[in-house]
Amino acid sequence: MSDKDFAALLERLRPEFAELIAQYEHKRSALLPMMHAFQQHQGYVSLDAMSAAAEMLEMTPAEVEGVVSFYTLLYRRPVGKYMLQVCRGLACTINGAEDIMAYFREKLGVGHLQTTPDGTFSYEEVECLAACDRATCMQVNLEFIYDLTPQKIDEMLDAIRAGTYAVAPMAQTREPGPTWATVPDSEIAKGRKSPGAVAVESPNNPGGLGDASGTIMLDHLITRDVYLFGRTTERAVVDSRAVVETIDERADRAGH
Ligand code: FES
Repeated sequence: MSDKDFAALLERLRPEFAELIAQYEHKRSALLPMMHAFQQHQGYVSLDAMSAAAEMLEMTPAEVEGVVSFYTLLYRRPVGKYMLQVCRGLACTINGAEDIMAYFREKLGVGHLQTTPDGTFSYEEVECLAACDRATCMQVNLEFIYDLTPQKIDEMLDAIRAGTYAVAPMAQTREPGPTWATVPDSEIAKGRKSPGAVAVESPNNPGGLGDASGTIMLDHLITRDVYLFGRTTERAVVDSRAVVETIDERADRAGH
């Protein structure tokens, strides 16, 4: 979408956004519906859209991007006309999600966070979609599909290709690249991790200053003479009451 086209879209959406913003006590509460509106028209949430929303809602662009990047419901890169998001959460995994994901990869010829060369499908494996009672499940352009089977997948893909599927294609104002992730898996594998996660091999190890039990972080807080103002009693019971009591006493002395 060119700058001119985006400017025209923004003017068209302005009255709708003004009504939306007026419904909330805090302007920023309108951010998610605004992002969905942009995505509906652009097929994704562009940088222009995020900047425009930041200005209208008196937020910083970083705050807007922080929200948008949190949700798999919002796409920050151009994607295929059909966004296929398969759940890989626990209930779905127990019910065969691994086989379902392998089947999708085989049928589409692309992997996680990739788009087919014809720009029709983008594929992503996502965390729990909150439909565990109908595992295995997925979303197609954000519409839920439950109780997946290979046969259901075949029917879905055939119908989409034939243009007869019940879920409509998304707008596609820009051609998607083959990989739409911000950081492709291949780059992560090369070691492009956040500073705290570098050299941490196991995905179950949080890395950084803490350890699995959290005691290193507590030691660190004590030696740096930093107080815990919000008391983490849960961690205190699990790890070391003595350590946390020491911190609490210091906080009390400091009058907090
Ligand atoms: S684990 Fe798939 S919906 Fe919850």
